[in-house]
Amino acid sequence: MKKKVLLLGGAGFIGYNIGKYLAENRDYDLTIADNFARGKQDELFNALVAEHSIKVVEGDYTDPKTYDQLDETYDQVYMLASVVGVDNANSIPHEIIRINTALIYNTLEWVRRSKIGKVLFTSTSECYAGTIDAFGYKIPTPEEVPLCIEDISHPRFTYAVTKMLGESGFLNYARILGFETTIVRYHNVYGPRMGFKHVIPHLVVRFRKGEEPFKVYGHDQTRSFCYITDAVEGTVLAMEQPGTNGQIYHIGTEEEISIGDLIHFTGDLMKFTGSYENAPTYPGSVSRRCPDITKARTQLGFEPRVDWKTGLTQTINWYNSYLEEGNKVYE
Ligand SMILES: NC(=O)c1ccc[n+]([C@@H]2O[C@H](COP(=O)([O-])OP(=O)(O)OC[C@H]3O[C@@H](n4cnc5c(N)ncnc54)[C@H](O)[C@@H]3O)[C@@H](O)[C@H]2O)c1
Repeated sequence: MKKKVLLLGGAGFIGYNIGKYLAENRDYDLTIADNFARGKQDELFNALVAEHSIKVVEGDYTDPKTYDQLDETYDQVYMLASVVGVDNANSIPHEIIRINTALIYNTLEWVRRSKIGKVLFTSTSECYAGTIDAFGYKIPTPEEVPLCIEDISHPRFTYAVTKMLGESGFLNYARILGFETTIVRYHNVYGPRMGFKHVIPHLVVRFRKGEEPFKVYGHDQTRSFCYITDAVEGTVLAMEQPGTNGQIYHIGTEEEISIGDLIHFTGDLMKFTGSYENAPTYPGSVSRRCPDITKARTQLGFEPRVDWKTGLTQTINWYNSYLEEGNKVYE
């Protein structure tokens, strides 16, 4: 019998790429569940689904009844469904709380009444962003640092609050109810087809509009950017390697670069010859971020392969071609 694998939120950026990887590298029976709020039923998605006979179960999973459309048994569930992004957190924090909490709680309760082998929950480096600035923990940062919300009233942190709930929820339901679970905390995953709300496509759009001088928001802040193919490999390893039950893994790269470096390199790729002007960034935006991936390296055999300049070049080229073919900017 083939393994049955469900990707909840599988039409989105990371979910689509995990689906593609599994379809091309494993002989699994794949199902994608999504409401297409963000994930797109575009040509790429439709081609993947058709070519590999992937089952699609469309619906809003904030409604517990939607889960009745799913089977009762899966070997693996990738839990990716979520409302994401700083813009959403700042503009609709109440919806982040409602939707993400409902998705987590409904999935946990569905797992309780179903036969599920293992669930992988996708969390975020935002869970410890406050820890670094408030307590000066070391960078690169390992998994065991305490999680911290610097300002509980700030809308930006609603996303991290829901991801902390998810980490605690999956780890504790799994222990009590007897299914396996693993948490991955992603660190700035990027690549083609990630929508237009992430920093990199946003830069492409701004350069194409001819912004001058080009504002460099948060030029001295640092991030480490993880190319999508590396993030997918790390995620599938976290799901499939033995000994990962109950563990949390930082998935990202240890190449820490400044936002200034990112923007200047992007500008070069976009053939920008104008001037730059440094400017302050979002309040609550962490000053430095870089994961320690020793645990993923030693326990999963995870090794990121795409350096940031290569990944960025591929991503910028993809977005330029996409827009030059007459496609529109979408969310
Ligand atoms: N991309 C990153 O750098 C990053 C970083 C940290 C964490 N994550 C987490 O990884 C996961 C995947 O992220 P992504 O970048 O692919 O985001 P994404 O927005 O592209 O994917 C999320 C998917 O969830 C779906 N979804 C939202 N609400 C739903 C609902 N009510 N019912 C069913 N489906 C619903 C969306 O339509 C979308 O396809 C998310 O949980 C996100 O929080 C991503």
